[in-house]
Amino acid sequence: MSLLRTKSIEQSIADTDEPEYQLKRSLSALDLTVFGVGVVIGAGIFTLTGRAAHSVAGPAIVISFVIAALACALAAMCYAEFASTVPVSGSAYTFSYASLGEIFAWIIGWDLILEMFLGASVVAQGWSAYFSAFLGKLGITLPAAISYGGVVDLPAILLVLILGVLVTVGIKESLRVNLVLVGLKLFIVLFVIIAGIFFINPANYSPFIPEAVPSAAADASKWLMQPLLQFITGAAPSNFGIGGILSGAALVFFAYIGFDVVATTAEETKNPQRDLPIGIIASLIICTVLYGAVALVVTGMVPYDKLDPSAALANAFAYHGQAWMATLIAAGAVAGLTTVVLTLMIGATRLIFAMSRDALLPMGLAKVHPKYRTPWLITIIVTAVVAVVAGFTPVGVLEEMVNIGTLSAFVLVSIGVILLRHKRPDLPRAFRVPWVPVLPIASALICGYLMINLSVETWLRFVVWLAIGFVIYFAYSHRNSRLATGAPIHPDIAAAMESGVVRPDDLR
Ligand code: ALA
Repeated sequence: MSLLRTKSIEQSIADTDEPEYQLKRSLSALDLTVFGVGVVIGAGIFTLTGRAAHSVAGPAIVISFVIAALACALAAMCYAEFASTVPVSGSAYTFSYASLGEIFAWIIGWDLILEMFLGASVVAQGWSAYFSAFLGKLGITLPAAISYGGVVDLPAILLVLILGVLVTVGIKESLRVNLVLVGLKLFIVLFVIIAGIFFINPANYSPFIPEAVPSAAADASKWLMQPLLQFITGAAPSNFGIGGILSGAALVFFAYIGFDVVATTAEETKNPQRDLPIGIIASLIICTVLYGAVALVVTGMVPYDKLDPSAALANAFAYHGQAWMATLIAAGAVAGLTTVVLTLMIGATRLIFAMSRDALLPMGLAKVHPKYRTPWLITIIVTAVVAVVAGFTPVGVLEEMVNIGTLSAFVLVSIGVILLRHKRPDLPRAFRVPWVPVLPIASALICGYLMINLSVETWLRFVVWLAIGFVIYFAYSHRNSRLATGAPIHPDIAAAMESGVVRPDDLR
């Protein structure tokens, strides 16, 4: 039963909400929405859409976006209920520690580490794709071997290292800078939609759902590349057709990842129990509308098989001879994607910090730099891992891993809502998911369904990831957990919290 021990809400508050660290409650629902849109819009729409339309779903990628949005909408409601019930800031990790028990918190934390580490790597690669496209427009060509999709993605590595230094010296995400970059990103996305409309050729929409063709994975020797569903049912894996729409949905799900990060701002929100659900759900709605429109426009501009799989949005305009528009979009993407990488890297740092604070990971990890007062050790680890993964992993391998990690966290959060209703019916819930348990079950099922549309390879990697997680948990975390030992908070961690650089409210 000790696997299900929970950190009491009082204790969580004591750890994260000591009066002297209490934050000003200044954020409104609008601020949260801006924050959410800033984290969510990234490599998913800028690079993945082109690749998925080009080789998996054709123009029907628009339908894939709608399906993925449905899964996210249901999960978002579950997140919103969690965030409005457990008055502890942070995301699914802290929620579940306070409600479901340590083992669930560990699994969710472990899944979120996957989400954020690899998510940062994927977006760094997407950034590099647009960086190369941008340089290309200026007439500069990087050697293929050291750029996006090459042997080593040098620009991606450099970006991560520079951001890692910024995080170490204690950069704070300023709302104002964020606002400017989000505005710029929104401008670029709206520009693609509005300017693109004039270049749409309706002929590009037919066939809207291209006929299914056997995918490379149909070859028996490539079984690792088959979606798990086809592998289990023995159906022939194909690209395009209905199957392509579903695989496309499992892939472009990536584009929505990040709305859950809104839940980390609970303690800075004026009226968290009302504003958090609004912020989470509004960012999701805005992104869904924008994504659907971008996908529709871009597949209307260029025949799907001619879409550029790396920087599709910019190059759709180059295809029509609109060089300056392509350059503008590439430049905007380079600026806009930078903040997504930064936010995900900071998110990973905060999450590991929160897990070391609870001693589920070694407390010594949270060493604080004497001058910069930041948890430099964690930052260096995060930076090194993200840089190596972004630099050396072939493009297209990582998104699926990010998706499976996030989808599994969503499944657990959905089930968690039902469990918490039974376990703690007394807690006030400002936002209640309607039709419990039907909607949370539907959420878990749709997320689960998207998961089985991911490849066997991805599943095997995920199982290995979970197995490593369980080994660490049973060999280390279970025994060392502060809940078990009652150890006081590590002085280094207290110092980092005091420094204000890693603020209690930041911890996921
Ligand atoms: N949703 C984020 C992106 O698309 C992770 O980059």
